[in-house]
Amino acid sequence: MMKFLFILLSLTIFSLTSDAAIYKGQRVFVKKCLKCHKDGQNFVAKYKKKTWKKWMKDKGKPLAELHLKNKKARKSWNYFSSKKYTKKSKHLKQFLIEYAKDSGNIPACN
Ligand code: HEC
Repeated sequence: MMKFLFILLSLTIFSLTSDAAIYKGQRVFVKKCLKCHKDGQNFVAKYKKKTWKKWMKDKGKPLAELHLKNKKARKSWNYFSSKKYTKKSKHLKQFLIEYAKDSGNIPACN
């Protein structure tokens, strides 16, 4: 019983740290964005924190709309209108801001 509680507690602490959120955001990016934005991390580093924040406000609504309006991005429409996207948008935002142009960070290759 104690062991179980301990595991539960450490999982909670882990998921509360922002590192975990950035990692989750990176996973979303690799899985969902990379197939179209192939220059990956360079793509993230192309824009400043402020720009990403603007696109990711309101649970990422502006970014979703930008794609939904663009026929070239048709294959992403399902994703951008899904709950999955809004639910994870917080993590994605953290990742994008962490590696924005003016952040000085370079993501590890994992
Ligand atoms: C199905 C392909 C597709 C997917 C998936 C996709 N995008 Fe895009 N995205 C586009 C297209 C097409 C544009 C319009 C730019 C253009 O016309 O070249 C665009 C534009 C953008 C822009 C505006 C800046 C620019 O280069 O014009 C950002 C920022 C962006 N996407 C981020 C993302 C993020 C973050 C994800 C993952 C959550 C994502 N995209 C997923 C196709 C996609």
